[in-house]
Amino acid sequence: PLPPICTTFEPYFLLSNDKLNDIVDHFIKEMEGGLLDYGKDVAMVPSYVTGVPDGTEEGTFLALDLGGTNLRVCEVRLFGQHKFEMKQQKYKVSDELKQGEARVLFDYIADSVDAFLTEIGSDISSNEPMHLGFTFSFPVEQTAIDAGKLLTWTKGFAAKNAVGNDVVKLLQDAFDRKHIHVRCSAIVNDTVGTLLSRSYQSGPALIGAIFGTGTNGAFIDKTRTIKKLGEDKIKEAEAGGQHAGEYMVVNTEWGAFDNERNCLPISIFDNKLDRESINPRKQAFEKQVSGMYLGEITRNILLHLIDASVLFKGYSSKIINTHYGYDTAFVSGVEAAKSPEEVKDLIIKQLGVDSKHIAEGDAEIVQWACRVVSERACKLAACAIAAVVKHTGNDKIPSNGEEDKGVDVGIDGSVAEFLPRFAERVSETLVELLGEEGGKRIRTGLAKDGSGVGAALTALQAKKAMDKRT
Ligand code: BG6
Ligand code: GLC
Repeated sequence: PLPPICTTFEPYFLLSNDKLNDIVDHFIKEMEGGLLDYGKDVAMVPSYVTGVPDGTEEGTFLALDLGGTNLRVCEVRLFGQHKFEMKQQKYKVSDELKQGEARVLFDYIADSVDAFLTEIGSDISSNEPMHLGFTFSFPVEQTAIDAGKLLTWTKGFAAKNAVGNDVVKLLQDAFDRKHIHVRCSAIVNDTVGTLLSRSYQSGPALIGAIFGTGTNGAFIDKTRTIKKLGEDKIKEAEAGGQHAGEYMVVNTEWGAFDNERNCLPISIFDNKLDRESINPRKQAFEKQVSGMYLGEITRNILLHLIDASVLFKGYSSKIINTHYGYDTAFVSGVEAAKSPEEVKDLIIKQLGVDSKHIAEGDAEIVQWACRVVSERACKLAACAIAAVVKHTGNDKIPSNGEEDKGVDVGIDGSVAEFLPRFAERVSETLVELLGEEGGKRIRTGLAKDGSGVGAALTALQAKKAMDKRT
């Protein structure tokens, strides 16, 4: 049996349906607040992407992807017929680059594009400027498809002299300094990229969501609902102006949901994580859901149980004592383990605990910690999806006699890919939140490496708009 101390923490992790419904209600309120005014935590950023692709799009584009596990440079070839081909190269971004001077970071990014073009090569004809779509997975207040200011860094980034600046300009200046003939013609959040890519590959989707290092979602809303754009811009959009479209993709930035702490269950382990993070009191939702943090929450739990002398006979290890000493892959490993012996093995190999300190029942305690943390992450992930579905009125079956096509959600990121039963757990919670009929209409599907394709599709949209103007 679990030590009683464990069960005292369960209410913070095993959330009741009432609690989940309360979270969804708050979620909808914060999203709607972000559509009305600028400067909200849940920023609801208009992307200036005014429709989703239908799979017939063609062309070859460069794509750059910053903000996930790796920096990636890709060349994406869209064939139409929902098909694409991609060449890509991954580059590491060190903590020094993430937290140093922005100029140095952007020079490194430009150098990586240069290295890609030299080492891998491009099929784009050299007598035209190479158009590049930039998947930049941070909150950016966009003013156009190729312009936007960084609102704040998230995840492990804190590079100086970037917040408040135009990210496209930061990148373009780096290309120009190095005489690299690439034009950054579109900037896109990874969630927007995922939504576009999913639609290109498997038909119109409503939501693109990332459950990876960070978490966030984008969805299609009526342009008219984005009231903060102002009546003139909305009318211009609806009438077919430069950014024509009755609909627009909105990047919610839901990772910042409930920074005010009105409804999320904040345990002592969450407080410790937040206090010791580089962005305290920010990204409250992200810190309970995404891959950068799930390992760290369990580490805080294990430390507490060690200090209470109910785990590992009160002994720790260097890894367990180190801030971010192990990552979420450990949680996934434990969740996938078939027996306590397998868990014990992981504890020895991945946490560096001396086998003589592992008492009978310890493997089960570690399994419990990983289970409750994962369970909460999956349930909260479902809350975010349910909130968007409800906000857009998609929780009900269409009553106009049209065929019910359901709601499609494209998902990417390491948590969605590697946390065992992620999709099933999310689906189960969606049924709890939206009822059998409402919940089962929502299809989630992995759109792996979606943002490369999404960036290419956005660059295509930008190029078309540019060609139309010239
Ligand atoms: C990748 C996308 O597949 O997933 C990135 O191309 C995205 O744009 C990433 O940011 C998210 O997952 P993770 O786990 O790498 O943060
Ligand atoms: C963080 C970023 C957001 C991004 C998400 C997933 O929440 O702020 O822009 O989409 O991580 O990568």
